[in-house]
Amino acid sequence: MKFEHIPVLLDEAIKGLNIKEDGIYVDGTLGGAGHSLEIVKRLTSGKLIGIDQDKDALKKARKVLGDHLDKVQVVHDNYRNIRDILSRLNIYRVDGILLDIGVSSHQLDEKERGFSYHSQAPLDMRMDKTQDFSAWDVVNKYSEKDLERIIWDYGEERWAKRIARFIVDGRREKPIDTTLELVAIIKKAIPKKVRMKGPHPARQTFQAIRIEVNEELDVLKGSIPIMCRLLNKGGRLCIITFHSLEDRIVKNSFRDLNRDCVCPPELPICSCDKEREIKLITRKPIVPTKDEIDSNPRSRSSKLRIAERV
Ligand SMILES: C[S@@+](CC[C@H](N)C(=O)[O-])C[C@H]1O[C@@H](n2cnc3c(N)ncnc32)[C@H](O)[C@@H]1O
Repeated sequence: MKFEHIPVLLDEAIKGLNIKEDGIYVDGTLGGAGHSLEIVKRLTSGKLIGIDQDKDALKKARKVLGDHLDKVQVVHDNYRNIRDILSRLNIYRVDGILLDIGVSSHQLDEKERGFSYHSQAPLDMRMDKTQDFSAWDVVNKYSEKDLERIIWDYGEERWAKRIARFIVDGRREKPIDTTLELVAIIKKAIPKKVRMKGPHPARQTFQAIRIEVNEELDVLKGSIPIMCRLLNKGGRLCIITFHSLEDRIVKNSFRDLNRDCVCPPELPICSCDKEREIKLITRKPIVPTKDEIDSNPRSRSSKLRIAERV
């Protein structure tokens, strides 16, 4: 099995973290440790906490970080638990946190994990293999309404209603067990004329199911304020996203944390007592250069936003 994950927006993210050699940093999505390796290279007495919910990723990351493991603590967990993870390590404030959201090339390459619509595999899509709930449960147990909702909301798929109906019809005879059975149903639901153009017809539905299985958007949304509050003054939170739903969450969360008053505009004086928690380092997201997109097409839709604790 090949594990080739090219880190996206690497220089920009590392510069964005503003690394101090004695600082404490967290990579909440360690993956193949491409970003983490560049972080630890810049540390002397500092420390890196690398979190991933995928045990296979941690194995690989340990190898990549080999020469620097004395400065690294690798943790198998969900970054949503960052506060508890850090307090177990007696850490209460950090100098920078990086998130590089989404699925890794490794996870896509490992056919049996069911992330890819190109190869036959059980319907799985769990990033954390210790979790029970999988894509099989979504596809075979969700009501037609719920299927439509997630495919529409998380896949932004205009044929969500038909796809949901075809899935429910398809599973009446027998459960839908594999990725390619699901792909065949999606293809039937999308009119041929539409399906012959543009990206793979199952792309958006697979994205939606993956987001649902791993609760990706809720986890991201809930974690941003917690992460900001764990930063020392001047500490940076850098978040790389891959689609508009994720970027919107980061943008709106940063906007709210950047405000020092959330009272309705009609109130004559402020009564909310809210204090501004961060300042925005990036008003517009940083996007990859043409060179990066040419050498790593996966980077095409990536966006980096950076905030600093005040
Ligand atoms: C895009 S990859 C990160 C790649 C990494 N930056 C690199 O350069 O190799 C995303 C990784 O984050 C992990 N991940 C996604 N959501 C997570 C979460 N909520 N908690 C912990 N790990 C998560 C995935 O398992 C995957 O390994």
